[in-house]
Amino acid sequence: MRILVLGVDHSILPPGCSITSDPGGDFEAVVASAAHIDTLSEDVPVFVLKSGGMADWAVKQKRPDVTLVSIDELQAELKKLVPNEVPPQISDLKKSLAIASYANKGGIGKTSSAINLALSLAARGVNTVIVDMDFGAPDVAGFFDVNPRRGLESLEETGVDNLLIKVRNNLWIVPGMTGPYQREMEASVLTRVVQELKNRFQTVVIDTPPAPWEKANLHNVFAMCDQVYAIVDQSKFSTQETAKYTVTLLAMGVDPSRIRIVLNRFNPKLMGIRQVEKAFAAGFKDKRNMPKVAVCIPEQWEDHVKDAYKGKSTSVEYWHKEADFLARQLVTESKETKEVKSRWRLPSFLKRKS
Ligand SMILES: Nc1ncnc2c1ncn2[C@@H]1O[C@H](COP(=O)(O)OP(=O)(O)O)[C@@H](O)[C@H]1O
Ligand SMILES: [Mg+2]
Repeated sequence: MRILVLGVDHSILPPGCSITSDPGGDFEAVVASAAHIDTLSEDVPVFVLKSGGMADWAVKQKRPDVTLVSIDELQAELKKLVPNEVPPQISDLKKSLAIASYANKGGIGKTSSAINLALSLAARGVNTVIVDMDFGAPDVAGFFDVNPRRGLESLEETGVDNLLIKVRNNLWIVPGMTGPYQREMEASVLTRVVQELKNRFQTVVIDTPPAPWEKANLHNVFAMCDQVYAIVDQSKFSTQETAKYTVTLLAMGVDPSRIRIVLNRFNPKLMGIRQVEKAFAAGFKDKRNMPKVAVCIPEQWEDHVKDAYKGKSTSVEYWHKEADFLARQLVTESKETKEVKSRWRLPSFLKRKS
């Protein structure tokens, strides 16, 4: 549930609430201090924190409809409004897909791709969660205008259920690291969270940092993924750079048949689709099951500037076909997790880091 918070420390809100400070935006309840009484909405439940003094009396005079609460009462009241925001554990979930974004550097469109795919899946009724594993620069929560109290750094302390924030129908996020201290997360903690989320959600979309290959703790997460979207910025295409995608992913345990290519900032006048696919297959003798271009997204500069971080997305339409493709996989019979076949041989410079 989305809550407008005014003049109150965000940390008093129960985990799982989506917080906004924009009175012009959408929200389903308000939590405020007495100082904001004159500006409070009348269309949704309003909770004002008790001060224990004359200010409480003044609040009741001006707005008899608001509920004056202590911090403990607030938590209980908000829980009543949101009986169960976390989808139930579905042990017999027929199939669940883990999907990650991948690129060899930042600013390529990994986060935009992860968000647009997730929005498109959620719009189809597929229960979806985005986990922000860009440890250095998490920005998924920011896109949805959510100001999380805590994120991945509290995983072991609170459990993933307490980190889930609902941002749309059928769409939740697990915010990335918050706070000033960047702790290195253990590989096993990250794989466990993906597994736990797979028990609850039909699709788990993982947003990743630039060059995940350099982050040893992410290797096993990639190995678990059913699908990896390798994002290439077509406007800056380089054969040499692109040729590293398949090998680095393979080194982390991603079979090339699980890679799908996204051409971002696509322009038909630039390097052709075949040449990009050729770069992905460079160095592989067996060209069967090599990655193919699945999504082309044109440059949308003005729209992006206008809508950036307002929870709107201008390129979601390019993901609809892909979301249909994934939704079809969800209803087909569950296949055994694909193992990396021994016929793939790693180039010697890519020894797997432990
Ligand atoms: N096709 C596009 N056209 C215009 N701007 C884009 C496009 N794709 C991404 N951007 C913008 O480029 C910036 C970087 O994109 P982002 O998805 O955050 O990349 P990454 O996650 O790889 O760092 C963002 O401001 C985003 O809005
Ligand atoms: Mg990003």
